[in-house]
Amino acid sequence: MLFGKLPKFEMKPHLVEMKLLKYCRQDFPSLSRVYKGRELVYLDGPGGSQVPDTVIEAISNYYRNSNSNVHGAFITTAETDTVIEQARERMAEFLGAVGPETISFGQNMTTLNFSISKALARFLKLGSEILITQLDHEANRGPWLNLKDYGFIIKEVNLLADGTLDYDDFQSKLNEQTGLVAVGYASNALGIVNDLSKIRDWTHRTGALMLVDAVHYAPHFGIDVSDLDCDFLMCSSYKFYGPHVGILYTRPGLLNQLETDRLVTQDEQAPFRIETGTLNHAALAGVAAAIDYLGSFGSGPDLRTRLVTSMSAIQNQEYALFKLMYNGLAAIPGLTIIGPPPHPVWHTPTISFTLNGFSPIEVCSFLASKSICAWDGHFYAKRAIEVLGLMEEGGVTRLGISMYTTEEEVEYVVDCVREIAIGS
Ligand SMILES: Cc1ncc(COP(=O)(O)O)c(C=O)c1O
Repeated sequence: MLFGKLPKFEMKPHLVEMKLLKYCRQDFPSLSRVYKGRELVYLDGPGGSQVPDTVIEAISNYYRNSNSNVHGAFITTAETDTVIEQARERMAEFLGAVGPETISFGQNMTTLNFSISKALARFLKLGSEILITQLDHEANRGPWLNLKDYGFIIKEVNLLADGTLDYDDFQSKLNEQTGLVAVGYASNALGIVNDLSKIRDWTHRTGALMLVDAVHYAPHFGIDVSDLDCDFLMCSSYKFYGPHVGILYTRPGLLNQLETDRLVTQDEQAPFRIETGTLNHAALAGVAAAIDYLGSFGSGPDLRTRLVTSMSAIQNQEYALFKLMYNGLAAIPGLTIIGPPPHPVWHTPTISFTLNGFSPIEVCSFLASKSICAWDGHFYAKRAIEVLGLMEEGGVTRLGISMYTTEEEVEYVVDCVREIAIGS
């Protein structure tokens, strides 16, 4: 029985521009899952988003019809080759890359970054400096910190008290010895977006390579790697409505210069050069479907234009809800939001906070009892949480808005947090 089910979402007049939301909710089957008497509210998007029917269909269709290995003479193997090619083409469109030869796939972003770090250890001048930040997810710190054992010098950009990068410190740690800057596009813990054009200009001036972790940024904003002018960029499709696949963009021509770990049987050319073993073909069918799904909310003559307009609509819609959530939470006594205030460009729609008298796991357990999915802890952005002095209290509570989040859900979660804070 659908007791206590949330009423069907209806657009409110002042959010009428959110056409996208009206059309997208019906596409995600998990949004109608009822738990403890009401539809689940998914504010765990920064940990992984829900998946629309078309993506689920693409994955199961692959297993139903085309399941095979690659490069053979028969129908299913030819279809598998096509699935992989299409996934590369779609990802190139999504990232604004020149072509599919710049897109490599892996198990997840972390694994790809370990592979790149091993390859760069052979490529960079021994003893050169690698600059990482305190704000980054461990996936963009650990692989580089490991290179200390191989004779590289690892430097770390400090945070300011509000959790933003200290850009003066950043600039002061760049020099002719810097071989690589590994930086996040946006923080998965605090939602802060970094000023990559400034960082790119400084980085290029020193002649260093620039690697961008766009895992948290990709679901919320359009990306243009050509404009960004980075050397590497990574993201993960399970954060933008697809399956668990890691994606690596490499500047044209660069991957072929790197000595990657690969079997003698592996194709030596980019983008295959860094891929190991058999890819997850079914998931790649899902990656292509996720990009098509995102593009379906945009307008324009080609997929890239549709993706650009669609991501901008997602950004606007999510920002409106983000402000609503921010203002609601900020008014709750004893609640401290970590990080700078909302901004349409310099913040993703992800809020982290602490609440006097309650640990994040207590807050999230209470929210779970109210059918709300939300994460507590450090989310592997361990260094940032440590530096901000939040580790002892169990980190923070994180609420993430996704393209399917509604105004009612935002109001509901704010009411629930207020309830735990003031007991009513
Ligand atoms: C900002 C950021 N970087 C890297 C990762 C790691 O990605 P993956 O799970 O694909 O290894 C995550 C995962 O949450 C993330 O949020």
